[in-house]
Amino acid sequence: MTAVLFTPLDIGPVQAPNRIAIAPMCQYSANDGCASDWHLQLVMNYGMSGAGTVILEATGVTREGRISHGCLGLYSDANELALKRVLDAARAVALPGTKFGIQIGHAGRKASTHVNWKGSGPLGPKDNPWRTISASALPYADNWHVPAAMDEDEIAETIAAFAEAAKRAARIGFDIVEIHAAHGYLVHEFHSPVSNKRTDKWGGSPENRLRFPLAVADAVRAVLPDHMALGARITGTDYLDNALTVEDAVVFAKELKARRFDYVCVSSGNIILGGRPASGVAFNVPNAAKVRAESGIVVRTAGLIAEAHQAEEIVASRGVDQIAIARAQLDDPRWGWHAAEKLGVKLDLPPQFRRVTTGQWPGLKLVRPQA
Ligand SMILES: Cc1cc2nc3c(=O)[nH]c(=O)nc-3n(C[C@H](O)[C@H](O)[C@H](O)COP(=O)(O)O)c2cc1C
Repeated sequence: MTAVLFTPLDIGPVQAPNRIAIAPMCQYSANDGCASDWHLQLVMNYGMSGAGTVILEATGVTREGRISHGCLGLYSDANELALKRVLDAARAVALPGTKFGIQIGHAGRKASTHVNWKGSGPLGPKDNPWRTISASALPYADNWHVPAAMDEDEIAETIAAFAEAAKRAARIGFDIVEIHAAHGYLVHEFHSPVSNKRTDKWGGSPENRLRFPLAVADAVRAVLPDHMALGARITGTDYLDNALTVEDAVVFAKELKARRFDYVCVSSGNIILGGRPASGVAFNVPNAAKVRAESGIVVRTAGLIAEAHQAEEIVASRGVDQIAIARAQLDDPRWGWHAAEKLGVKLDLPPQFRRVTTGQWPGLKLVRPQA
């Protein structure tokens, strides 16, 4: 019997050849938002990894919407050109049918921070920091930047910037655009009552707190060509009292589905620093399954999914359509190949690499330790 993990998945107009996705992962290796040679090697390798879907890292829709000085952006022609070089090269070597997407976002009150390996804290006065914005003038944590509460003009400009970035993604040739609406960044900051204390039409009731996320969704939907898939990464839970729960995620997913979104990726946490408890294996799966059951939209999830049989079980019997791996992919750049091997599936490998599996050198037997 074929492993479900290696069966195709229709994501709206796009068909992924299997149910393995590479989750978006910031690399902090861009120059003024432009992808570098680091991205070139990384994304080319992603394309050969056996994952049917590759989602590139959180990419700022404005320069100020980047998390750090090293984050990707899609706010300039130079950004667009640099990313096209990466995507074209990755497609040239990718396994057949591999689909490429990009996550577009705005870091909100978590912008203007150090790159991850320098601690991810807020930039100091000598680090060329910039003004940050959010739903309300509340910092992410003590001693973080206090963002300006966005006025009507800033709200309109930011929504428009999402649409412009999506247009750039379409011109570059991506298959998928994913709006980053999770992990404590701007869209999530409007959605969550923890970070949104506004008293105007953009805050207060659950409907008002969803207004900005849905305005972004509408703006992107309006410009995205029909041959591309559109999705969002959403929050399954804030892990806090008086905060977002899986019921909010279901409502959000239903609204997105009504707007012809093709999928959601259910993640969780990070609306405040340290707001996520220690989590176990595949911790987002129950919320993801509930969102899928109650909204009917295609659902992906990620979070401590690292082993092939575990991934297979999640897509075969735990009510989720697609899994994404992040750290396991960095650890094993051919994760998809090895998952196929473990599940008894034959992948169509590039001919240059086939001798690995066909034993064309008599006497050489590759022995790989089994987990
Ligand atoms: C290096 C790194 C960078 C990340 N960057 C992003 C990002 O750009 N956007 C995002 O939504 N999540 C990001 N994440 C979170 C991952 O996409 C994923 O949800 C999380 O790591 C849990 O999956 P895992 O247990 O397979 O690593 C990042 C994670 C890592 C390890």
